[in-house]
Amino acid sequence: MEDMKKAVLDGFAKAYGKCEGVKAYFAAGRVNLIGEHTDYNAGHVFPCALTIGTYGAAAKRDDKIVRFYSVNQENFGVYEVDLSKELKPCDEAGWANYPIGIIWAFEKRGFKLPCGFDMAIYGNIPAGSGLSSSASLEVLTGFILRDLFGFDVTNQDLAIIGQYSENNFNGCNCGIMDQFAVAMGKENNAIFLDTSDLSFEYAPIKLDGCKIVITNTNKKHKLTDSQYNARRSSCELALSELQKVVDIKGLGELSIEEFEAHKDAIPDEDRRKKAKHAVYENQRTIEAVAALKAGDLKRFGELMNASHVSLRDDYDVTGVELDTLAEEAWKIDGVIGSRMTGGGFGGCTVSIVKDEAIDTFKEQVGKAYKEKIGYDCTFYTVEIGGGPTVL
Ligand code: GLA
Repeated sequence: MEDMKKAVLDGFAKAYGKCEGVKAYFAAGRVNLIGEHTDYNAGHVFPCALTIGTYGAAAKRDDKIVRFYSVNQENFGVYEVDLSKELKPCDEAGWANYPIGIIWAFEKRGFKLPCGFDMAIYGNIPAGSGLSSSASLEVLTGFILRDLFGFDVTNQDLAIIGQYSENNFNGCNCGIMDQFAVAMGKENNAIFLDTSDLSFEYAPIKLDGCKIVITNTNKKHKLTDSQYNARRSSCELALSELQKVVDIKGLGELSIEEFEAHKDAIPDEDRRKKAKHAVYENQRTIEAVAALKAGDLKRFGELMNASHVSLRDDYDVTGVELDTLAEEAWKIDGVIGSRMTGGGFGGCTVSIVKDEAIDTFKEQVGKAYKEKIGYDCTFYTVEIGGGPTVL
């Protein structure tokens, strides 16, 4: 933490040649334990913030210029925008499209920035890992704007603004889960969130004798956003078909029995499978949280595994890399549960592994993955972190 803070402050000084009035900040990445592709279907999710994330340094300026610099992408240099001109996404802005999108979204809500600012970032979420580096950057930027300019927004607003900017400025139709997990994170707790109305509760994660291990496929993927948006459209179409026979606002309102009774209203078989996943995964998530509260970690793990199978067979968002990681993990004694986490197509799995099995897990999964896929996966044993902070 201190090293990262120092590095981002050093980066700020290097980029802008000054450090008067600069403050340092942090916003986490997230991992979702269960409840995948349910957050745009009015369903439940169960994510938690991590202790890895994005560090920021920022200071106000006297003019209307905002400058961005990333220690991770030094070659990209400093990018700047002028607040007196219209803010628009563009290729040249690269990663800075995320913080620019947040400024744009604040201004849309009537929060006009009185002046510009300089910002540097430094993240330790592995790139393209599906651990929400973009949501982390979005919430970090919103948190910085609130701190610098005193805007009257709650942490939950920061999540909503983050999602709004990602949907409308950056063109990914994501749900609210990632931004919510980052903005509302609480140490050692996961967040049981009902995305239909944003009601939520914290659930303490006490994994006696076990740890959360994230495994990165290291698969770089470009198609995610278009595939993601395509899945979302399938669910929306399936919903509109179901609405002809049942009065619901989202797939998450259906029980498994109700879905089975009405599913023929979805004529296309493939689309029916997508809707099935959304309904079953939501019910699995509700059951998983109840199991965890009752101290039944074994059942929680079984539901994690079932979640992966459904994402593989019905929702079709896994791929050979994620499947290899999960299927190899299931073979190992001491693995409570293992599944893909996040959007899919690449990125990471999340596994709950008994302490004494972690070395075997890394060795066997790592070996099998390399043999089958041809390159290495990477393991991280993670801790559950809190919400955004001033450092
Ligand atoms: C991505 C999106 C989230 C959510 C997950 C799948 O991470 O940003 O909103 O839909 O995929 O559960």
